[in-house]
Amino acid sequence: ATTLGASAAEKGRYFGTAVAAFKLSDSQYVTILNREFNSVTAENEMKWDATEPSQGRFSYTNADRIVNHARANGMSIRGHALLWHAQQPAWAQNMSGSALRSAAINHVTQVASYYRGKIHSWDVVNEAFADGTSGGRRDSNLQRTGNDWIEAAFRAARAADPNAKLCYNDYNTDGVNAKSTGIYNMVRDFKARGVPIDCVGFQSHLTNSVPSDYQANLQRFADLGVDVQITELDIAGSNQAAVYGTVTRACLAVPRCTGITVWGIRDSDSWRTGQNPLLFDANGNKKPAYTAVLDAL
Ligand code: XIL
Repeated sequence: ATTLGASAAEKGRYFGTAVAAFKLSDSQYVTILNREFNSVTAENEMKWDATEPSQGRFSYTNADRIVNHARANGMSIRGHALLWHAQQPAWAQNMSGSALRSAAINHVTQVASYYRGKIHSWDVVNEAFADGTSGGRRDSNLQRTGNDWIEAAFRAARAADPNAKLCYNDYNTDGVNAKSTGIYNMVRDFKARGVPIDCVGFQSHLTNSVPSDYQANLQRFADLGVDVQITELDIAGSNQAAVYGTVTRACLAVPRCTGITVWGIRDSDSWRTGQNPLLFDANGNKKPAYTAVLDAL
């Protein structure tokens, strides 16, 4: 096939991108989105600060613009993200203990219920593990409510939307390392105890290289009985095209790697300002990285 989405579909996968609602009025952006991608993730519009700006008052206008565009164009939707230490509304940042726990679980229930039946995969919890060698949890207001906050969130999400795949999503997990092993141990424990988890997302914000055990790391998670997804791929540096090809081939080599999402369309859309880490240049032209991905699919 001649587009990313159609080529991935031939392999039983999706190929997605992060989308910003305010760009849906940019015709060049929408042309590329509709031509190349069959999955979308809201870049910011489903985060806690966007969907519950004041406690108990939910706001879905911008998220719905993305959801409606996706559904009208036959694209699946990754929900991102129900709970995260970042981009919390100010009211939640100032809470702790059982009040925060209740507010967080209510947030999961309300948002997952609102979108019930429309979301392919939810990032239920984002970035809850620490960088470095500890293999442990990241300190955060959520973590300080008790180590069981992650499983409580997954149980609430399952109850609210039983057909969505429920994912844990993180970065710096691209090879076998202390952080990815900490997550691996959590997933293994969840599967052993019947905590509902279906998938693990690997953000894959990369520069110039990917660990040599990237595929093996995806495979070890798959072997626990969860799907794996590449959820926020962007690659900076002069070796960009080759690394995009390597990452794409790694996903295709893992039967349970069900899809790839890049974190934006054009370099000018990227959160990594000035690093040009995406598949299209600022004018919407295909880059060598695009060709490397399409050739690998
Ligand atoms: C980023 C967005 O791209 C930016 O627009 C925003 O200012 C900050 O968040 N990991 C994640 C994403 O899970 O939600 C982040 O997205 C990038 C890092």
